[in-house]
Amino acid sequence: MRNRGAKSLVGLTRREALLAAVAAPAMAGNLGAWPIGPDLRAAARVSNRFFGAAVQADQLRHDAPFREAVMGQCDCLTPELELKWAAVQPVAARFDFARMDALAGFARHHGKRLHGHTLLWHRSIPGWARAAIAETRDWAIIHRFFAAVIARYDGIVDYWDVVNEPIEIGDSPTHLRRSPFLDAFGLDYVRRALDSARALSPKGRLLINEYGIEYADLASESRRGALLALIDRLRQQGVPLDGIGIQAHLDLQKGQLDQAVFARFLQDLADRNLLVLITELDVREADPRLPWAERDEQVAGAVRAFLDVALDQAAVRGVTTWGFSDRYSWLNDDGRGVMQPGRNRGLPFDAALRPKPFVQAIATALRRVPYIVPPPVEIVPLQVDSMFDTTPPP
Ligand code: XIL
Repeated sequence: MRNRGAKSLVGLTRREALLAAVAAPAMAGNLGAWPIGPDLRAAARVSNRFFGAAVQADQLRHDAPFREAVMGQCDCLTPELELKWAAVQPVAARFDFARMDALAGFARHHGKRLHGHTLLWHRSIPGWARAAIAETRDWAIIHRFFAAVIARYDGIVDYWDVVNEPIEIGDSPTHLRRSPFLDAFGLDYVRRALDSARALSPKGRLLINEYGIEYADLASESRRGALLALIDRLRQQGVPLDGIGIQAHLDLQKGQLDQAVFARFLQDLADRNLLVLITELDVREADPRLPWAERDEQVAGAVRAFLDVALDQAAVRGVTTWGFSDRYSWLNDDGRGVMQPGRNRGLPFDAALRPKPFVQAIATALRRVPYIVPPPVEIVPLQVDSMFDTTPPP
């Protein structure tokens, strides 16, 4: 039993593979219903936005019904694992693009775009790089990695998460997270990362992607403040930053979203001329003992409260969910490293690929046409004297 959670070659646990095999033929027959089902791509087009999902190449390769559903609903795919540094450069002298190429191949074949997730992330540094950075403090190590992935995928990537999760309150005077990057290159490493990315991708939209900035609790408030301060420092230095990715890992245990607080934050970003993407939307449930229908309503309610505010903001260009169906979700981990499809019901489609109220919530929100504030009208002062006789009576 010790191996129950072990990943097979295709990245699935044995249990996942078995469940996928059982579910796949059953679902194939249901696909005929798709054209009349919710169409998230069409909904996104209404307001000139996009809908996307994070997926793994192996899921698309081995699970045909899942692939069909993803391709039917998404404009853009985020590699859940394939582009991370530890995945593409496991040893210093060798880049391994096999899985990322497979995902890019699917995307190209089906006319999809990719979200470039992610260049610098403290949780995905290959061991050799961690050691080399600490020892040499040589930025060229980072630049070589950036150059390899950007050169290969820039043509199909619109947005790059150049720095992922840089904020951690209390870790440093400016609340930049303590990481091998901060240790080796100091507080300036975010600027260097964005400058390097811009040199390699003149047209890519360069983002900082962050979590824990959605709710109104004190911790989230501090994280928002630290992020805005970072943005302002970068802007003062003329650093190329085009936008912010808001991860949006919603959590029912955190209670209701304060819509006014979140709307204010989005406006703070928009006021800084930044574009905003919702990059990793999913919902962690609070009580898995409730009936499915009730759970799905709670999840959809949280999504509705969030997206109705997010998509009222014209700066928000698109929505990506972190996963697509409960069949494959990082939230399905049972706490002991064993993946259980459908354990958490926090994605748009259930483990059998049936749409849940979550889908309706996204579709409705996506159809909101962003309200663009009209430019102030110049008021020409009336030429009173030429229109009226203003001569005072004698
Ligand atoms: C997660 C993946 O979903 C997991 O499968 C992996 O084990 C760890 O990374 N924020 C991010 C994503 O920016 O890259 C993370 O993805 C989830 C949290």
